[in-house]
Amino acid sequence: MFYYYGRKKQIAKYYPLPNFDTIIEPFAGSASYSLYKNNWQKQVILIEKDDKVAAIWTWLLEQATPQQIESLPLVKVGEKSSEFLHIIHAVTKMAFHFKTIKVTPILERNWEISKRYMAENLYKIKHWRIICGNYTESPNLEATWFIDPPYKHTPGLGYRHSSKHLDYRLLASWVKMRQGEVICCEGEFGDYLPFRPLVESKGVAGKISREMLYYSSEYKPLDLFPDTV
Ligand SMILES: C[S@@+](CC[C@H](N)C(=O)[O-])C[C@H]1O[C@@H](n2cnc3c(N)ncnc32)[C@H](O)[C@@H]1O
Repeated sequence: MFYYYGRKKQIAKYYPLPNFDTIIEPFAGSASYSLYKNNWQKQVILIEKDDKVAAIWTWLLEQATPQQIESLPLVKVGEKSSEFLHIIHAVTKMAFHFKTIKVTPILERNWEISKRYMAENLYKIKHWRIICGNYTESPNLEATWFIDPPYKHTPGLGYRHSSKHLDYRLLASWVKMRQGEVICCEGEFGDYLPFRPLVESKGVAGKISREMLYYSSEYKPLDLFPDTV
């Protein structure tokens, strides 16, 4: 929904489409998968531990109108901003460690594009729910689980609640207990589930990264013609 470090907007098309009526994203960030194509029409439940990121979602879901978003001021290169919603649009690993940043050309451009995008797409998310909390606080429902945690071998940067704070062994057993289907994302060094290569993607500054996927499903399509062989 907004620019965000590690978001899956560019590669959302490589993940399986949801087979259940509910999508749960226990590591929400900017929730690119839930917004992809018609996925947004499902019941969507987001869980996000960073209270500042969760607060953006609460504002978008419960208060914001397209007109309000459109009338938010633009930012200009060289200005300073302490607005968290601006800071994350800088899309740098360090964004979460700054209280104030100087507006760069990237931020100026991203913010202008994102403001328009958020205003135009707001109607898609008004039925979604956000829970501010740990991933383990997700409701235990049969759903399509899109699980995109901070990647294991990233050195504690990128997010306020980073890989340093996650026990990946516990995460792996929690993932295996989900009901429905599970789409779990990792980078090339993810080793706590049987990940397989998904796609190579070009990140910020042209850096290539190999994206990995773990998929498991209890989904059984309805058998409409049970007597035919
Ligand atoms: C890789 S990002 C998710 C990106 C998202 N899929 C997107 O497309 O924008 C991981 C997110 O998980 C959040 N997070 C980290 N630890 C968490 C935890 N224990 N429980 C819930 N969320 C957590 C981070 O704050 C970050 O927003």
